[in-house]
Amino acid sequence: MARDEVILAIDQGTGSTKALLLDRRGRVLARAAEPLTQTHPRPGWVEQSPAEIWAGVIAATRRCLDGHDPALVAAVGISNQRESMLLWDRATGEPVSPVISWQDRRTTARCAALVADGFGAMVWERTGLPLDPMFSATKGAWLLDHADTDRRRSIRGDLCLGTIDSWLLSRFGGEHVIEIGNAARTQLLDVRTGRWDPRLLELFGIPSQVLPRVVPSTGPFPAVRGLPPLADGVPVGAVLGDSHAALLAHAGWLPGRVKATYGTGSSVMALCHDTSEPGTGLCRTIAWGTGPESGTGVGAIAHAVEGNILSTGSALRWLADTVDRTPAELADLADGASSDGVHLVPAFGGLGAPWWDSDAQATLAGMTLATGLPQIARAALESIAFQVEDVVEAAGQGEVLLADGGAAANPTLMQIQADISGRHVHQSLVSDLSAIGAAHLAGLTGGLWTQTELEDFDRPARLFTPRGGSEERRRRRSAWHQALARARTTDRSA
Ligand SMILES: Nc1ncnc2c1ncn2[C@@H]1O[C@H](COP(=O)(O)OP(=O)(O)OP(=O)(O)O)[C@@H](O)[C@H]1O
Ligand SMILES: [Mg+2]
Repeated sequence: MARDEVILAIDQGTGSTKALLLDRRGRVLARAAEPLTQTHPRPGWVEQSPAEIWAGVIAATRRCLDGHDPALVAAVGISNQRESMLLWDRATGEPVSPVISWQDRRTTARCAALVADGFGAMVWERTGLPLDPMFSATKGAWLLDHADTDRRRSIRGDLCLGTIDSWLLSRFGGEHVIEIGNAARTQLLDVRTGRWDPRLLELFGIPSQVLPRVVPSTGPFPAVRGLPPLADGVPVGAVLGDSHAALLAHAGWLPGRVKATYGTGSSVMALCHDTSEPGTGLCRTIAWGTGPESGTGVGAIAHAVEGNILSTGSALRWLADTVDRTPAELADLADGASSDGVHLVPAFGGLGAPWWDSDAQATLAGMTLATGLPQIARAALESIAFQVEDVVEAAGQGEVLLADGGAAANPTLMQIQADISGRHVHQSLVSDLSAIGAAHLAGLTGGLWTQTELEDFDRPARLFTPRGGSEERRRRRSAWHQALARARTTDRSA
């Protein structure tokens, strides 16, 4: 195999689509990003355009490969935002719905009704996930209720329901498939077996005929088609959920590794070696499945424990947009400032792990006439760190936190995280770990490197050491929990 072969990684994220080119030693040769819009047609609704997502993938790929020989791309790795769902026509491949974003809360009442009917424990047991509108199942049901009320077209096989990985792979042509880690986030998969669960399909009203076939994270996937300047037929070596890919990029298969990805929302994740109860309010997920398919489901499944926080980077972006600054400018303002008792609880769409409270309301509390933007910006950064620590603590995880994602580039946030957690934080000095994780697995599948070589790749990080005593930490977290309690008891009908 030629020494100069490269891997192209595409990370289809919520805020942007990124493309990276990696050489045979895992070094990033080129990168490009295309922003992606979100629309809010009604309060709590968040949608994206399937066509814009695909156009962003094309544009990011083309720009990333500018000045590089596309013939050297040995394989493509894909990572993607999870849980978001859309529906398309099987015959034409044309979308028949927008993408309902993972952030969308339109199915809150449906989830509450299922909980009230006593299905919560059964669903959590099988899927590893709480009944929450974040997950795809109720989004899929909503889409079918609006496009195929009597499910006749679904049962005939005319429609395809899919996550973003399914959608991108469908653009390449071939069969309707989904990667197993992404499938684990739909709330339709039994994470213990890696198979669609007939009881869940019935509960949510989703006919099996609309669902993709579940395949391992290493495929086989349809090969690239229509992604110039790549030649048609370049293999897709790996597909991973973005959070799962970031864990893989941190060499998360090694014992004791816990990572936090700071994107639009955040995910704290670590592999776990059984499928037992992972800790209050946390999810069980399939990180990746790399084994060959077998008669009993998808083989060699790596299970993970995960806590999803709905709003972290998006809280900062909301504040930045509101005051006409950038998130980086806000972080500069917050540097050296004190929040002076101000707390932002960014429950813009309720709260995720470990609370799972759809009714919680975003609040900004504790202000005085002396409060200015620096205090509020500081409170916004602290809200990210407090939320992450609540999850890491619930997971009973270790001394070191591996950090990545757009907001983790910020040293002020990383220091706040170390101080609030009392843990050492390793800030990845390489950005876009989701894309890099997908590249790592694609290169492994394609034989560009071995597992040992992959383990030895350089993973540059900056260490943040906790400051302040445990008493101070306890006091600050207790004040945060009081603010959280207020956000959770707000009466929406008032
Ligand atoms: N300099 C900065 N300081 C702090 N936060 C920042 C900075 N730059 C970007 N961010 C935050 O990072 C977030 C974007 O991170 P990232 O690019 O990892 O998200 P994404 O991939 O689009 O979304 P996701 O991974 O959740 O699907 C934004 O919401 C923004 O608030
Ligand atoms: Mg991302």
